[in-house]
Amino acid sequence: MVKQFTIKPLPSIYFAVGSIEQLASLANSYGKRLLVLTGNSLINQENVWEKITASLQQNSSNVFFSTVGTEPSPEMIDTIVQNHYPEEIDTVIAIGGGSVLDAGKAVSAMLPGGNSVQEFLEGVGSKNPDGQKIPYIAVPTTAGTGSEATNNAVITRTGDGGFKKSLRHDNYVPDAALIDPALMRTCPQDITAACGMDTLTQLVEGFLSTKASEMTDALAWSGIKAVQRSLISAFQNGDDLQARSDMAYGSLCSGIVLTNSGLGVIHGMAPVLGSLFNVPHGVVCGTLMAAANEASLNHLLERRNDCESLVKYARLGQLFSTKEDGSAEFYQQAFIEQLYRLTEALNLPLLSDFGITDRDIVTIISQSETKNNPAALTDAEMAALLKKRI
Ligand SMILES: [Fe+2]
Repeated sequence: MVKQFTIKPLPSIYFAVGSIEQLASLANSYGKRLLVLTGNSLINQENVWEKITASLQQNSSNVFFSTVGTEPSPEMIDTIVQNHYPEEIDTVIAIGGGSVLDAGKAVSAMLPGGNSVQEFLEGVGSKNPDGQKIPYIAVPTTAGTGSEATNNAVITRTGDGGFKKSLRHDNYVPDAALIDPALMRTCPQDITAACGMDTLTQLVEGFLSTKASEMTDALAWSGIKAVQRSLISAFQNGDDLQARSDMAYGSLCSGIVLTNSGLGVIHGMAPVLGSLFNVPHGVVCGTLMAAANEASLNHLLERRNDCESLVKYARLGQLFSTKEDGSAEFYQQAFIEQLYRLTEALNLPLLSDFGITDRDIVTIISQSETKNNPAALTDAEMAALLKKRI
């Protein structure tokens, strides 16, 4: 029997090489006054950026621009909202990586009331979002966070007292996700690696999650297959459009999966490592993926209390292995070995490269969660896996 499940709203999805050319007409279907957020890397690609802006300006009555240079902070969102609150914007468009897409999502949510975002952040603010927002179109230029399909925007404050917290409401799922893999061809190699590992982590954590369903499993598996085919190719040759398409598809699937099945221990540690130590989100995922899955697998094998997750670990190993007649145990270990190989091949840094030492482990664990991880890792298990990557 199919277990009960719920799927939250999805954006209208436009996935095609060259789909950026539909952006102006899509935007106009929501209104003529546009606010466009983008990152510096796209602006630096003059040919692409000029084409996009010319087509938007030709088809709209007013187009306002704002640049998002870092992970969005509460102050950044509030400034953009205050600058554009009186403009009666019809549509917010964000074209960029995960930070730009999250910024666009938060701005579209705060613009109707001219509100300050911090008041609505989970675990920080005292108010619940009411779900009102201005129509929002997300155009990813990296294959990473899947923000184009998620119901949350991550807002970051770094340093002492820092946090990474979500602004979340099911209405905040973008109205439209326009995904053009050709926009990702110029994504630098280190960002391709980190974002790609974020995608793989989200897919695998969603697949193994205690909240996974038949439907999220189908999407997660389809995304994992795409990443398995193409992560290394996209990393080695950014111009490989087929590989970029696979990664863009994997990222989209990961956003839908994580919104509906939740995530695991790596995403339970990532906010702490990002806000206190400034480790980029994709790097946290990439550097911890092998060690965290090794810890979870060993935890499950020692207790043998979760057959479904162990079967899933074996399926993952089979997908990544060339051997045809291995045992379940062989494939479970093969998956972990493959993750360690990926970590090497993608040159993912260690946590110590960001100044993290063994002395920080207690602080990191005290603020981390295991989320919907199939194994409820103990503090000692979490400490051991962190130590492997310091
Ligand atoms: Fe992530």
